[in-house]
Formats: sequence, structure tokens, C-alpha cells
Amino acid sequence: MATKDTSSFHQEPSDLLPDIKGPIPGSKAKAELKLDEKYISPSYTRNYPLVVDRALGSTVWDVDGNRFLDFNAGIAVCSTGHCHPKIVEAIQKQSARLIHMSGTDFYYPQQVEVAKALTEIIPIKESKRIFLSNSGAEAVECAMKLARFHTGRPHFISFYGSFHGRTLGAMSLSNSKTIHRRKMGPVTPEATAVPYAYCYRCPVNRCYPGCSLECLDQLEHVVFSKRIAPDEVAAIFVEPVQGEGGYVPAPREFLARLRDLCNQHGILLVFDEIQSGMGRTGKYFASEHSGVVADIYCVAKGIASGLPLGATVASSRVMTWDSGSHATTFGGNPVSCAASVKTIELLKDGLLDHCREMGERLLSHLRPLVQTSPIVGDVRGFGLMVGMEIVSDKAKKTQAHDLRNEIVMECFRKGLLILGCGPNTLRFCPPLVVTPSQIDWACETVAKVIRGHESKA
Ligand SMILES: Cc1ncc(COP(=O)(O)O)c(C=O)c1O
Repeated sequence: MATKDTSSFHQEPSDLLPDIKGPIPGSKAKAELKLDEKYISPSYTRNYPLVVDRALGSTVWDVDGNRFLDFNAGIAVCSTGHCHPKIVEAIQKQSARLIHMSGTDFYYPQQVEVAKALTEIIPIKESKRIFLSNSGAEAVECAMKLARFHTGRPHFISFYGSFHGRTLGAMSLSNSKTIHRRKMGPVTPEATAVPYAYCYRCPVNRCYPGCSLECLDQLEHVVFSKRIAPDEVAAIFVEPVQGEGGYVPAPREFLARLRDLCNQHGILLVFDEIQSGMGRTGKYFASEHSGVVADIYCVAKGIASGLPLGATVASSRVMTWDSGSHATTFGGNPVSCAASVKTIELLKDGLLDHCREMGERLLSHLRPLVQTSPIVGDVRGFGLMVGMEIVSDKAKKTQAHDLRNEIVMECFRKGLLILGCGPNTLRFCPPLVVTPSQIDWACETVAKVIRGHESKA
């Protein structure tokens, strides 16, 4: 497969493969794990005992000097790779000049710079405005409040399998795991979940392509006629590719029909592109694969290559709330803004094309496993946002949760950092700077590990 010269956005050495020197966790990692157990909240979801010391590009070193290949990118955050020299330089320069002032009360140019760069790539055609925050959940909270403010309506619709964040508002839209809500409720009662177009496991037993999107009938013909009048719905929140729910891309027609429904009833369509945006799918935003445009976009994660930043972008016609109705102390911090402007520059300067090429390479390795392995049920995705479902019975599509976790663990022991999502999906989301040989090695390793687990299904 032909690949471009990627030296302009790679740091050297860019092409390292794993090197595991001894048992993991090693002695230094073990000591850290003990301290962590004493001091850190047990609510985190650590999958394996990786204690990170430093990272560069797609390579991560642990505190014992073992070298790993990162196929998580800090959960789809380190889009330009770890510690990209141009990002580090932008952060260093900005932090020597101004670290904080609070955009809520004062002006500084970095907020406008990032707003200009972001609004240029957000697909809304009209003039746009932007609210800057610190995280994905905050970007979603902002969209919820803005949608209510703008429409004067109380209700929200979201989808089964969705994940929009862990704050109480965003959590009320999230429906991917019961543990997120258990003992935390009540959440916003005006949030209703309906089936998503999860075509491999069609919620209404139809089979895309060729279906009539019967999964949306529940919203259109049940919820809107028996439960909530559509003119009381402020917004429909949807991930164009569900992330935590299992890397499930929505078909183009599904998003188009949501757009039509929203137009028909004066509802705002919100795309949560927090995981799927900022180039991860080979386009700036995953929804661009469908051509459907939302009214509000929520962006975070890869937006600033690892610094905390969230953005809620809407047309100027929608973002009309009054001074004081929404604000934040830290959001849109100048250092995060500088990192974000540089991130967008790198995407434009070839990283987006590289991601598309690497994504094709990744899929060309992984797709054949659906035919050759009895435990690979489905491989799907765009660019470097690819999911692989592990099943114990292919005909019945039985979700193999434990088996998936064993595969994740075995990959870790071999030096490949991969995570699951959904009950039984392996997620592939390396930094966008990942190289061809790193893709090849990761896919060979996963295939080998899968072969070794086939008899356990
Ligand atoms: C689609 C989506 N929305 C929102 C969030 C929440 O982002 P954060 O963890 O930055 O609050 C996530 C995080 O995984 C996400 O994947």
C-alpha cells in the first residue's frame, strides 16, 4: 500500500515497536499500583496494570522501561500522537506568556483563534459561535442548556448504547452501561432513550441495507405519539459513531431521517462528535461521511492533543443566550487553545490524509478475520475508529465479554495497548500519526491472540 512521506507530522523516532523486558507489572509499577490503591478513587476503570512514565508518538514507556504500542491514544485524545514537538512547542510558548485569565470575565486572543480555526471546519454553513469548556461532558451540558434556552422546550431524545458523559445532565442522555447510573439517580427525567441503528444487532430484527429504518419507528410512531409531543422536544443527541457503546457507525440514512424529523418538528439536532471528531474517522467529523449537518456540535477529546478543552459549536441563530446564562472559570484556557490551534493545523497539513490511509490499512488487515475466525463477528468503522466484535457463537452473535477482556489482557502482555468498548467489542483508536509498520504489527498481534483464543469460545 502506497504511503505518503509523513515526516512533517511525525517526531523521531516515530516507528517504534514494543519491547517488553520482563514481567509486567514490574517492580516500579507494582509500587505505584500500591500507592494508587491507597490514594486514588476506586471508581476508575483500569483494565490492566500499565503505569506510564512517558510517551512519544504512538509509543508509551512504563515506569520499568517496557515499551508499548498505544492503540488507545488516551481514549481517542492524543490525536497528533503523544508529545508532538509542535504541540509541545505551542504549549511551552503559550504557558510562558499567559496561562490563565478566565474567558468568562476577560478577553484574550487565543479563544478567538481557536474559535476561528474550529468554526472553519465545523460543517454548519451559516455563521457560527462557540462556547469553550474543559471536557466532553461539559460540552454536552452546554448543548443541553443551549437547546432548552433556544427552543424553550424541556425534553431530550438520545439513543440506547449512547455515551455523552458522566455529569448528571450528560448522564441522563447516556445509555451504554447501568453502572454509570447505578445509585446516582434520579437523572433528568425529561430524557428519553430510543433504539439506535446498531445494524449488526438490529434492534428490530431487520437487516440494513434494504431496511426502512424501522429502528426509528419507536421514536416517530411511539414516543412522539404516546409519550412526548414533539413540540416539547428541545434536541435529539446522537453520536454519528457510537463510541463507548461499541464503535457503532450510524448509516447515512439514519442521520438523514433524524435531520428530517428535527426539521419537521423544530427540534435541534446535536451531533456528539467528542470521540468521533477531530479527524479520527479520516474526515474532520464522522458525520461528514453522511453529508448530514447538525444544529449543534459537541467536540472535545482530540481537539487539543491531550490538553483539556471542550467546545460546543452552534449557528449564531441558535447561540443567542444572554450574558451570564452560561460561563466557566477554566474553559477555553489559553494554553489549551494554543494546543488546539496547532492540532487543527497539523490535521490540515496532512494528518487527516494519513489517518484515512492508515484506516484503510487497518481495515484491510482486520476485515478478513470476520471470514477466517469463528470468534470475530463484525469489523466496522471509518479511519482510525474501528471496532471488532468478539462472539462465542457466530450464528447467534453471542457477546463474548470475558473472552474480549482476555484478548485485551493478552495484547497488553505482548506490548499492545488496546481497550474494549461496549460489552464485547475491541476498539482500535491509535494516535493518528500511527505508522504502517505499527498498524501491521498491531494487526498481526491481535490476529495471533485471537487465534489462540478461538478454542475457548
Ligand atoms: C461520545 C462521547 N461524549 C462525551 C464523552 C464525555 O467526555 P469527557 O470524559 O471528556 O467528559 C465521551 C467520553 O468518552 C464520549 O465518548
